[in-house]
Amino acid sequence: MARKVIIDCDPGIDDAVALSMALFDPRLDVVAITATAGNVSAAQSSRNVQTIIEQLDPLRYPRLGVATAPDTSPATDARYMHGEDGLGNSGYQVSRLHHQHPSEKVICDAVRADPNCITLICLGPLTNIARAFQRDPDLPSMVDRLVVMGGCVDGNGNVTPAAEFNIYQDPVSARVALRSPVTKTLVPLDVTRQVELTLDFLDELPSDETRVGRFLRQILPFIFRAYHQRLGQESIHLHDCVALAAVVEPDLFDFTELAGDVETQGELTMGATVFDRRRNPQWRPNMDVALGIDVPRVSAYFTHALTLAGNAT
Ligand code: RIB
Ligand code: CA
Repeated sequence: MARKVIIDCDPGIDDAVALSMALFDPRLDVVAITATAGNVSAAQSSRNVQTIIEQLDPLRYPRLGVATAPDTSPATDARYMHGEDGLGNSGYQVSRLHHQHPSEKVICDAVRADPNCITLICLGPLTNIARAFQRDPDLPSMVDRLVVMGGCVDGNGNVTPAAEFNIYQDPVSARVALRSPVTKTLVPLDVTRQVELTLDFLDELPSDETRVGRFLRQILPFIFRAYHQRLGQESIHLHDCVALAAVVEPDLFDFTELAGDVETQGELTMGATVFDRRRNPQWRPNMDVALGIDVPRVSAYFTHALTLAGNAT
């Protein structure tokens, strides 16, 4: 029986690659894809979700949710990493947005339609999750599991020295999500940055005879250039794909139960994820955190998932 999932995302190139993997994995039933602002604006993220679906043309079209801007507009986005359009400046023209349902409403309706069956996979800021939980206070008890790509346990952020991007963009919503009673898994930078993909990854993509091969060859070169020009790195991270792997192949990870929270103030520390790892922790554990990863087997999962996508498109 395929696992029912909702993917909340801010495409974003790594989000787009994760969607390319998820939509064609027979172990997953992607019930809905909901856009959130983050790498790009709410409007652009919503357009990108639709573009990705149109380009990949999966057998079953998931319900789509459109993003609205977070209550407090963040200081930055990640267009420098993902392109002005969030998809490597690939220039896809999306037709008019077909689905005008707000992401938080799509999440509430889908979870209520399948209580205790849905895994919420969060690949962007947690704005929609907080809004869904505030819209329907019983929802946390009806979600099977919340899996979040975000945060860092070792304290090494990416958007600031202390904070990871998804949490930093909307720390108040991240605190609401991580303090909610839903069963949670966090996939932090500590493990996602261990998977480094070189240009060989492009050679291993499905053929450009396939829709997914053409799409990924269109969007991926930008992020390789951005990592080289901005970070001086010849390899890239696809953080969201690692989070997806933690859902589909949890045995490739080691999880530790921790008590964690989010700093929502602080000139230097806003968006930092803070964990009680004292010898005698006082905070009550509230999430399973991926701290170990089998890098070669996660990389093999990437290849396998994209092969399946290539065979299906
Ligand atoms: O910090 C990495 C995360 O921020 C990823 O989800 C990436 O897409 C960006 O949203
Ligand atoms: Ca993302």
